[in-house]
Amino acid sequence: MAAVGAHAAALTSGQARALAATCLTCHNPVRGQPTFAPRLEGTDATRLANVLRAYRSGEHGSLVMRQLARGYTEAEIAALADWFAAQPRR
Ligand code: HEC
Repeated sequence: MAAVGAHAAALTSGQARALAATCLTCHNPVRGQPTFAPRLEGTDATRLANVLRAYRSGEHGSLVMRQLARGYTEAEIAALADWFAAQPRR
């Protein structure tokens, strides 16, 4: 698995999965239902991490993701980006 950030190794895959579970509430809608937020599975890890950093710094995005992204450290962002990138697209 390609690590996006230098500190990605600080989180285990189980920890990354647990963090990602909070994202899936919005990003993994029931099949056949309207999509509330874009699916993240199979997205390029570097792009995901950069988008999350831009949310965190307030450079980009809506209020929802800006507020959320503030709660994550650099290591957590890298682990989330790697976890989503490694999931198959559905
Ligand atoms: C409360 C619902 C909600 C939760 C929880 C949530 N998101 Fe989002 N997310 C959104 C919405 C709505 C958008 C699209 C609007 C925007 O850009 O803010 C979005 C957009 C994104 C995008 C940009 C997607 C694209 O293709 O441009 C990324 C990346 C993202 N979220 C990552 C995450 C991650 C990682 C988590 C968990 C840490 C998370 N989100 C949790 C609602 C949510």
